[in-house]
Amino acid sequence: MKWGIIATWRMALEGITEVSRDLEKGLSAADAIEKAIMAVEDYPFYKSVGYGGLPNENCEVELDSAFMDGDTLSFGAIGGIRDFKNPISVAKKLSEERFNSFLVGIGAEEYAHKNGFERKNMLTDKAIKYYNDRVKETLEKGLSPYEGHDTVGMISLDIKGKMCVGTSTSGLFMKKRGRIGDSPVAGSGFYVDSEIGGATATGLGEDLMKGCISYEIVRLMAEGCHPQEAADRAVEKLNQKLIKRRGKAGDISVVCMNNKGEWGAATNIDSFNFVVAGKDQKPAVYLAKNVDGKTIYQPATKEWLDAYEKRIENSIE
Ligand code: GLY
Repeated sequence: MKWGIIATWRMALEGITEVSRDLEKGLSAADAIEKAIMAVEDYPFYKSVGYGGLPNENCEVELDSAFMDGDTLSFGAIGGIRDFKNPISVAKKLSEERFNSFLVGIGAEEYAHKNGFERKNMLTDKAIKYYNDRVKETLEKGLSPYEGHDTVGMISLDIKGKMCVGTSTSGLFMKKRGRIGDSPVAGSGFYVDSEIGGATATGLGEDLMKGCISYEIVRLMAEGCHPQEAADRAVEKLNQKLIKRRGKAGDISVVCMNNKGEWGAATNIDSFNFVVAGKDQKPAVYLAKNVDGKTIYQPATKEWLDAYEKRIENSIE
């Protein structure tokens, strides 16, 4: 039987490599998503997810996460949770609830506490330094503090044909307290239906939500589009609509997979990357960019991968 897994950004490579071996042996799509996203959340030097994620304007790390089961369409989501180690595990647990499956702030924290999830101070010294530097820069230069955002979003297909999707993010650096982006919002940051396929997004949440982009991609796949065509069409349509109506579009990048393990990726920026693995494909990083309204991608070169690792090593010192 086929299996597959695809995720936004190079940061997912280690987690995907680990769970790939187990997916081959029968690991469920749900456990694969949780385990692989936990690996990203636990790694202290990724600045946009979990431990080490950059804080809001009050220097607090508020995390958003979601999990969806493509067989039952159940989803769990949390927004603005503080001081819990693995938001994806809380979201996955919430997906078992018939009611109250999307919780924010104190409600999410109470739920996590009652269900025994591990607490952790998620604000690192490095994140505090980034915060102090950005405050200074923003005040001195009058800059907008907001840029694009690198959320980890991941879709898996297991050998029984079940599909799941998960997301995890610290949201926009310097966001307002309580701001929630697309990542925990069903249809925008994620969507999956095992009878069709799944999609997940990264970029500027405020713009991604304007197009309910993940649902749109799954809808296009249901109409018969190959995942690549669905991703290209959905991203280009939203990008053009935002430019026409608002003068510009924020960062929009997506990955998707159908229930045959075929996949696609699309972006409106010039430096998106993603990771994919499957029955016939070893875990690989691809570099994607938008050229004249179309996404092109190629496997990352050894030079690119080495430079990435060096950057991460330097940030450890
Ligand atoms: N895409 C993540 C966010 O905007 O929070």
